[in-house]
Amino acid sequence: MKYGYFDDDRREYVITTPATPLPWINYLGNDGFYGLISNTAGGYDFYRDAKLRRITRFRYNNVPNDIGGRMYYIKDGDCTWSPSFLPAGTELDSYECRHGMGYTVFTGKKNGVTAKLTAFVPLGDACELNRLEISNDSSETKDLTIYSCIEWCLWNAVDDANNYQRNLSIGELEVTGSTIYHKTEFRERRDHYAFFTVNADVNGFDTDRDVFLGARRSWDNPIQVENNASGNTVASGWYPIASHQLKLRLAPGEKKSYVFQLGYVEVPRDKKFESKGVINKAPALALIGKYNTDARVEAAFKALGEYWSDLLGIYHLTSGNDKLNRMVNIWHQYQCMVTFNMSRSASYWETGTGRGMGFRDSCQDLLGFMHLVPDRARARIIDIASIQFENGSTYHQYQPLTKRGNADIGGGFNDDPLWLVACTAAYIRETGDATILDHPTPFNNVEGSEKPLMEHLRRSINFIINNKGPHGLPLIGRADWNDCLNLNCFSEEPGESFQTFGPSEGPVAESVFIAGMFVKYGLEYADLCEHFGSKDEADSVRNEVGKIKKATEEYGWDGEWFLRAYDAYSHKVGSNECEEGKIFIEPQGFCTMAGIGQEKGYGRKALDSVKKWLVNDYGVEILAPCYTTYHVELGEISSYPPGYKENGAIFTHNNPWVSVAATVIGDAEMAFDIYKRSCPAFLEDVSEIHRTEPYVYSQMIAGRAAVHYGEAKNSFLTGTAAWAFVDISQAILGIQPTLDGLSVKPCVPAELGDYSVTRRYRGSLYNIRVTRQAGKSGLTVNGQAIEGNVIPVPAEGSTVDVICYA
Ligand code: BGC
Repeated sequence: MKYGYFDDDRREYVITTPATPLPWINYLGNDGFYGLISNTAGGYDFYRDAKLRRITRFRYNNVPNDIGGRMYYIKDGDCTWSPSFLPAGTELDSYECRHGMGYTVFTGKKNGVTAKLTAFVPLGDACELNRLEISNDSSETKDLTIYSCIEWCLWNAVDDANNYQRNLSIGELEVTGSTIYHKTEFRERRDHYAFFTVNADVNGFDTDRDVFLGARRSWDNPIQVENNASGNTVASGWYPIASHQLKLRLAPGEKKSYVFQLGYVEVPRDKKFESKGVINKAPALALIGKYNTDARVEAAFKALGEYWSDLLGIYHLTSGNDKLNRMVNIWHQYQCMVTFNMSRSASYWETGTGRGMGFRDSCQDLLGFMHLVPDRARARIIDIASIQFENGSTYHQYQPLTKRGNADIGGGFNDDPLWLVACTAAYIRETGDATILDHPTPFNNVEGSEKPLMEHLRRSINFIINNKGPHGLPLIGRADWNDCLNLNCFSEEPGESFQTFGPSEGPVAESVFIAGMFVKYGLEYADLCEHFGSKDEADSVRNEVGKIKKATEEYGWDGEWFLRAYDAYSHKVGSNECEEGKIFIEPQGFCTMAGIGQEKGYGRKALDSVKKWLVNDYGVEILAPCYTTYHVELGEISSYPPGYKENGAIFTHNNPWVSVAATVIGDAEMAFDIYKRSCPAFLEDVSEIHRTEPYVYSQMIAGRAAVHYGEAKNSFLTGTAAWAFVDISQAILGIQPTLDGLSVKPCVPAELGDYSVTRRYRGSLYNIRVTRQAGKSGLTVNGQAIEGNVIPVPAEGSTVDVICYA
């Protein structure tokens, strides 16, 4: 069952009912000012940091969980309704929500009135625009009243939900004309405020929530709306909101448009006030002036569309498969932008109050983002490397506002350092910009500790080399990619964090997964050394890679598949000898990608075992059989009921590893099959089972052992976005950046047929046609056959015509 449809020409998903199984959301904003917006206009806005600079309030575990956000009421006689269905909740004559690239458009119709609400954040400015267009399609004159409403958050979202004894006395506002300024704490240490305005004279306003709502009422029927009244209240303490009242008369066929703007400004410390207690409004007025007419808003909306057309023009596929086209050309890349921006901080599943930017998460997000905005990728790599410690290990997370490592969680996740190698190498393959390796980058953000980025990579590699266990395999530390496999934790008390309890290091527990990573990324590092550094270093690292490869073949192979780990007692994890948790997905994907045991056919065997044990209707499960009891020596992984999360769900992030691994052993059928199984557009028809948005990946889909098999959770912020795009664009469709140029080497099943890709790469445009023709193979570049798969980088600005005979 579907709740909408894809409109590929407009790059939108069109939701046709507000009754989606869960709120289906979108993101507004690209660089600094962000909004989350659901298909009923719920959600919230923040500036840079969803915890510390929260602009509008979100109520956690609320029922319905989606009330709030952009609230618009249209009062037409006795009937009050909202263009996005909520908050009024009045049944609409028709409803539509179009989630597009950085914008959402709602169209609601009721009793002959049509209201179209367009929400977006204009490029380069810290504000959300809501354009409300109202038309009278009936044959009678309509006297309507519009109420807008947003609820302010008192900046720090955690404090806002906790510290009532202080907070209910600190709210402060100013109102001038149609603009309501939120200036809580501006009197003291904040030098930023927010405002909510509309480009029309208002008939009234309210900023005191309790006056607006009335006693014992909720957002669906505020007393002021019911009474068609406005109190012109200026809140002092309690719960400040911003609501405008606008009365309008529409003749039949007449239309009116309003622009609401929710903005954020920072003011220099010495210019905070224009007079005692009165805030300096100049920066707000400048921002308001930029978007106070329909024409300006239309121009900004058009610019946003052009921005996305440009970005999505960098990699564009034309194939006979619509679902594939829309994922590759639109939604994969869009989700990569969102995960780059948000890491795992703010979604309808991540509260925005907890984790900051994850080290490994952000490094992997970059893998799918590099081609979109390489400059931002470069800056991010430096930010990430700057939280690394001198010994090559690293903080696991950092806060986006301060860019400092997060001491609460600390370090000790031993896969982390290698992801830095992965993303740096990918950046150079994409851009050819090896100057990043020389960039002076501090350790732990300590001034004076700067070393070239290349030295950070060296220390990442050496950290693994210097931290091996009894079998010569890398030590796991607190955990590797699987945060829930906690082999040194041994937690017995409820509530203890599995990630931080116990020693951060253990001298015994080893990870076969990190071994696979080391082989893959150790070789990528050696290539960087060879191209841009020292040949000796390259040789020495290849030698170390050889050792870990050998150790993995010797101690990391279980006969039919790769082991997952050795625990703190040196017992096998993920072995046929285990009663539960016999086989894990991660090492099958990574060790096969890394080519470990290739000559012995390990990859083929491992992937056959994946098929036998782990593949289900919606993807590949993370392990089997699921743990049915808590294992203190394994940690969080065994804390989940069978079939959920790391205990046997499809953890979609690692599905592309298996798919890429299949391309490494040349199994195109399996690669594409695995890609399709968990791919959102391919699951659209079972949306009532999948339940999350059919246009983006969710972190997990419950496995066969779960009560709710097939149900997805944690949509949007997942490393799957980047890996799925890498898988399909580079491994399967085969257009892969290398240090020496673009490589074209598809691994596609016959069912896909011929296809073309246009790819902008290092300043040139490649028109690539992949075709199957009997007896033909290899590449022609501008009509000339070339040796191998890598097209030498042409002069910038070239157009390169490539035919690949697959
Ligand atoms: C975390 C990742 C981790 C994954 C698997 C995600 O929630 O953000 O860092 O690799 O879970 O445990």
